[in-house]
Amino acid sequence: MSAYLGIDLGTSGTKSLVCRGDGTILATATAEHPSSHPHPGWSEQQPEEWWRSAVSSVQAALAQAGIRADEIRGIGLSGQMHGSVFLDGAHHVLRPALLWNDQRTAAECTEIESRAGGRAALIQMVSNPAFTGFTAPKVLWIRRHEPRVYERLRHLLLPKDFLRLRLTGELATDVSDASGTLLLDVTHRRWCAPLLAKLDLDRAWLPVCVESDEVTGQLTPAAGRELGLPPGIPVVGGAGDQAASAVGNGIVRHGIISATLGTSGVIFAHADQPQTHPDGRVHTMCHAVRGAWHMMGVVLAAGGSLQWFRNHLAAAEVAQAKDRGIDPYELIAELAASAPPGSEGLFFLPYLTGERHPHSDPHAAGGFIGLTVRHTRAHLARAVFEGITFAMNDCLEVIRELGVQATEIRLSGGGARSPFWRQLQADVYGQKVTQINAQEGPAFGAALLAMVGTGAYGNVPEACAGTIRTIAELGPNPSRHALMSRWQRQYQRLYPALQREFLFLAELRRDTAAS
Ligand code: XUL
Repeated sequence: MSAYLGIDLGTSGTKSLVCRGDGTILATATAEHPSSHPHPGWSEQQPEEWWRSAVSSVQAALAQAGIRADEIRGIGLSGQMHGSVFLDGAHHVLRPALLWNDQRTAAECTEIESRAGGRAALIQMVSNPAFTGFTAPKVLWIRRHEPRVYERLRHLLLPKDFLRLRLTGELATDVSDASGTLLLDVTHRRWCAPLLAKLDLDRAWLPVCVESDEVTGQLTPAAGRELGLPPGIPVVGGAGDQAASAVGNGIVRHGIISATLGTSGVIFAHADQPQTHPDGRVHTMCHAVRGAWHMMGVVLAAGGSLQWFRNHLAAAEVAQAKDRGIDPYELIAELAASAPPGSEGLFFLPYLTGERHPHSDPHAAGGFIGLTVRHTRAHLARAVFEGITFAMNDCLEVIRELGVQATEIRLSGGGARSPFWRQLQADVYGQKVTQINAQEGPAFGAALLAMVGTGAYGNVPEACAGTIRTIAELGPNPSRHALMSRWQRQYQRLYPALQREFLFLAELRRDTAAS
C-alpha cells in the first residue's frame, strides 16, 4: 500500500510523519536540535544539526509506522520560514544559519526600504515591507559585518531547502517559503529581478523556485541509506510552515480562515487574488496551492502570553495540576471562566515580545490596563485570554477589510483544545468556529503535497477534501459577541495611545540593562 512522508523542520526540532493516502496517520516522531543566541536578539542554528534531527525523526517514524520502506511513494518538506543558509560553491555551510526570530537587522531593513525607493515601492515589488526576521536583510547584514563570508557566498537557501539538498542533491525552493525572503515577486510567483538589482544581490545565488506540489528531485542512494529508504523516491517542493499547516488544516479555498494558537498566534486566509495591504499590516504571500495566495497575520506572544501567566501568576494552578496529573492550562482556563466576560473592564495587551501584526513594532510591550480594587487573579487570567483573542481579531479585521470574507474560522493549536477558549474565540470573532480531525499541522500538510506531486490526488484542494473533515462546530453567543465587539473597539484604542510611551519604556529598559 502507498504511504507518504512529511518532514517539518521546526525551530526546536524536526517532526516526521508517515501517513496513508486517505490521511490515516501511521506514525509521527520528533527529534530536537539546539539554537544559539550569541548576542541579545540573535538567533542561530547549525544546518548540520537540522540534518541530524531530520534523519533521526524519519528513522523513528518509519520504525513506528509498521510499513515496508518501499511503500513510501513521496516526500514533502515544510519548515521554519525566513531563515538563511549561506553556502559556498561546493555547497559547504559557511556559517550558522540566521533564523526567523533573529532581530539584528533593523539597519538593513531601513537600507532595503530606501534602496527600493521607499516602503510603498518595496510593498509594490514584493508585497511585504521589510521585517527584521526576513531573509534579504540577513544577507545585507552579512555583507556589512562578515565580508569574508559574503565573498565566498554562492548559494542562499531557506531551512527546509537545506534538507532537500541533502535528500536529493538539488538546489530548489517553493513559492510559499520564497515569499518570506522579501526577494520574491509574490504577485507573479518568480524572483524579483528589479529588487535584486537595487540591492545589488546576485540572482544566481537563489535556487530554482517551484510550486509546492512540483517534484524537485529524487532521494539519492546516500540519503536513502542514512534514512533507511530506497533511492529514487520523489521529493516535492513543499511549503513554509504556515502554508503547509494551512494545507494540513484544509485552508485551501475562499471562505475558511484558520486561527492557530501556539506560542505565536496566526490568522491565515486563502485568497484567489494577491491582495496586498498598502501599509503591510498583514503578510501577503504565495499559497502552497497553485494560482492562490494567502494573507496572514502573526501575533507574536499569543500562547506565549498565557505561558507567561502560568509561569509567574499561576503557582496555585501549576501545583494543583501536578497533584492531579492534569494540564495546568485547564485550571487556568477554569480560573478565567470564573470571572465575568469583559473582565469588568480590565484589559491585557499581549505585546510581550513586541508585535508583528497589525502593529509592526519591536518596542510594543504588554500590560494590564484598567485595574481596580475589585479585580482578582481570576480577572487577570480572563483578561489575558481576552487580550490574546482581541489581538488575533485585530489581524482578522485587517484581512476582512481587504475583502476576504469567511463563513467559518477553523481553530487549531492550544486554542482549539480548550472549550473555554473555543467559545471565547467564537464570541470575539463573531463567527462560527470549527475543529477538524487532522491535528498534525505542517508535517501533515507536507505529506499531502507529496501525495499531489506523485499523482495520488489531482490537486491540493482534492487532497484536503479526501483526508480532512470537520468534527465540531460552535457559534457565537449573540449578547457576548455584542459585548466583546464593544470591548474590541476599546482594546484597539490602547495601542495608539501608548505607542510613543512604548518607545520611551524601551529606552528605559535598555538603560537599566546597561547600568
Ligand atoms: C512565519 C513565521 C513563523 C516561522 C517559524 O512568518 O515567522 O511561522 O516560520 O515557525
